Parts: sequence; structure tokens; C-alpha cells
Amino acid sequence: MDKVRVGLVGLGFGAEFIPIYQEHPDAELVAICQRDGSSLAALGRDFGIDRRYGDYARMLADPDVDAVHINTPIPLHAEQSIAALEAGKHVACTVPMATSVEDCRRIVAAARANDRRYMMMETAVFTREFLHVQSLLRDGSLGRIQFLRGAHQQDMSGWPGYWEGLPPMHYATHAVGPLLALAGSAAESVVCFGSGRIAPDLVARYGSPFAVETALVRLADSTLAAEVTRSLFETARQYVESFSVYADRRSFEWEQTEGEGPVIFEGEIADRITVPDYAHLLPQEVRRFTTKGVYDDEHAHLSFTQGGGHGGSHPHLVHEFLRCILEERPATVDEVTAANWTLVGLCAHESAMTDGSRVRLPEFAVPS
Ligand SMILES: NC(=O)c1ccc[n+]([C@@H]2O[C@H](COP(=O)([O-])OP(=O)(O)OC[C@H]3O[C@@H](n4cnc5c(N)ncnc54)[C@H](O)[C@@H]3O)[C@@H](O)[C@H]2O)c1
Repeated sequence: MDKVRVGLVGLGFGAEFIPIYQEHPDAELVAICQRDGSSLAALGRDFGIDRRYGDYARMLADPDVDAVHINTPIPLHAEQSIAALEAGKHVACTVPMATSVEDCRRIVAAARANDRRYMMMETAVFTREFLHVQSLLRDGSLGRIQFLRGAHQQDMSGWPGYWEGLPPMHYATHAVGPLLALAGSAAESVVCFGSGRIAPDLVARYGSPFAVETALVRLADSTLAAEVTRSLFETARQYVESFSVYADRRSFEWEQTEGEGPVIFEGEIADRITVPDYAHLLPQEVRRFTTKGVYDDEHAHLSFTQGGGHGGSHPHLVHEFLRCILEERPATVDEVTAANWTLVGLCAHESAMTDGSRVRLPEFAVPS
């Protein structure tokens, strides 16, 4: 195989990836799939994709599809990932992996049983900020990590129905992933408190009453702990998806308000920095997607609005997914890593619902 033939399902957020696959030298975007026929036809026409499926099972039966990239609503991630793995396809799935321990376990088992690659497409570990701090850790500039803190605060009112009342920690991977990836470790156990209250009609959806959930995570085989905070409703804050790393030589702290830039601390000295871009790590053909929207002038009506494309992460995600298949190696966010990051959130919510009891992650989700 010298090119991976990809089928893309879910074309809201998922449409952002169409031109990246089309221009990546290791990929061929052979098919797209979503339920809404008219917008499927419009996207297919705009991007010159003839094979369009309204039914996901039919795309999985297509022998010309080697790999699927899933961007459908959260409740569908588990079943669609498992169905694809069982159909012999490699799977990239947007976050979170699933919404129950059992579904995470089934996905890990399905990836192994079918010997297929699984990658959770966590944007937060391919942003330029993440790649920059990773390089500062690797070259010793920060020194030895002492503590990590992550937060994801977003007002989700008005988003599609399945978001309403979602337990904040059920969508925590953007805040969890960078901390564990930078520490080079996995989570072992978690304690979490819920704080504040959301409106009764929101509570009724998932039985989760909290406005904010805040967790302390104990890392496996490590002296480190990490702190994660999430809010989705009725908590005033500018959007933030952040990580901070405190280390013995220098520390990196995320900006407080958008655009002011993060700070590197060296003792008492605070230096506000501009984070460089990491497009040079990518094939020439897709480098422009780290700093620009994916749509050209002709497709400007499908505007790309999500804050610089999630830190320029989208082409890095695509590149890693394609390379792990072609190099026959696990993805950086493989099935066990994805389960670990996702289960930090699920176990944290369980802890919050039992007033902060300590919850251990299941063994299958902690790499040995
Ligand atoms: N930073 C990130 O990683 C990030 C950002 C945005 C969204 N997301 C994730 O992307 C996913 C989609 O988000 P969205 O805002 O585009 O949602 P959306 O509800 O607007 O769009 C979902 C898409 O899935 C399609 N779909 C739904 N059910 C289907 C089915 N049974 N078969 C085939 N297609 C089906 C719909 O037609 C639509 O194209 C969510 O899971 C969300 O968590 C991740």
C-alpha cells in the first residue's frame, strides 16, 4: 500500500478535513458519508468526490475504503468505530472515544482482534502550543516537570441536542490529553468534585447537576499529579482550551485571555512568548493548512472559523493517522491511550457523583 484510501463520515466538523486528505501525498479520499442527502451532494460536487454514501454500513462494505475517519455525533463514536474495525478498516475517530467504560473496552478489543490501527483524533496534542512545549521538554529547557494543569471552558448552549446537560468530564480529552502526553505517562486514578448547579431541564438529560467539574489525576509510575477543570454551561468565561506545565527550570503557562500569548517563567522572570508554527514537520502539500482555513476562494462560503483551526492541528492529525497505517505502527494516540484519556473524564464524573471518591481506571486502559 503506498496510499491510504480514506472514507470520511460526518461532514460538519468533518468537512474541514476533506481538502487535507485530498492534498496529502499519502492519501486518496475515495468516499464521503453523511445522512443529509442535499448537503452530501453539495459537498461532493464542490470537492469533486463522486462516491457519496448516505448509509454508513454501505461505505464500510466498500472494498476500496482502507480507513475511515469518523466525525459524527458523540453517541455514535463507539458503534461506528467497532463496526469499521470489524469490517477490516483502520479507524480515526474524533473525541471522545466513547461515553462508557464498556464501550472503550470493546473498541480496544476490536482494534486488537482485527489487527487494525485506531487513532483518536485529539486536536489538543497536535497544536503548535503543544508541539512547542514538547520540544522545550525534549531539549531540557523546562527541566523536570513538577505539576500540570489543564482547563477547557466553553459555553455549549445552543449546540446540537446531545450536548445539552452533558457531564462536563464526559468531554475532557482536550484538557487531559496534553497533560498526560507531556508527562509521558498515563492516568492511574482520579478524584473529582462537582461544583455549582445548572438548570433543571439540563440536569434531566444526563442526571449531571454540576456547572463545573474539577479533578486531580494521579499518574501511573510517576510522582506527578495533574489538575483538570471543565465547564460547559452557565459559567462565564471566554473560551479556553489550555494546558500549563510547571517544571524546575522553567514553566509554561497558558494565556489568560485569547491573543495575549503564553508566558514562560524562569524563577521570578516572566517572558511572554510567540509560539512558532510547526508546518515544517509536514509534507509540503499540506503545510498551508496549519495557518489557513481549509477552503480556497471558491469554497469561501464554508468558512473556517474555529480559532486558527485548533492551533493548526488538523493536517498534523491527518499526517499521523496516515503514517501510522503506512509504517504499520501504533498511532501516537492509539486505542489504549485514547481509552486512558477518555476514561479520566468518565471516572472523574463517577467520582464527582460520589462526592470525590477515588476511582481507579480499569486495567485495560492503563498501558503496562
Ligand atoms: N476539536 C475537536 O476535536 C472537535 C471540534 C468540533 C467537533 N468535534 C467532534 O466532531 C463531532 C461532530 O461534531 P459536529 O459539530 O460536526 O456535529 P454535527 O452534529 O453538526 O454533525 C455531525 C455530522 O454527522 C452526520 N451524521 C450523523 N449521524 C450519522 C449517521 N448515522 N451516519 C452518517 N452520518 C451521520 C451528520 O449528517 C453531520 O454531517 C462531535 O463528536 C464532536 O465531538 C471535535
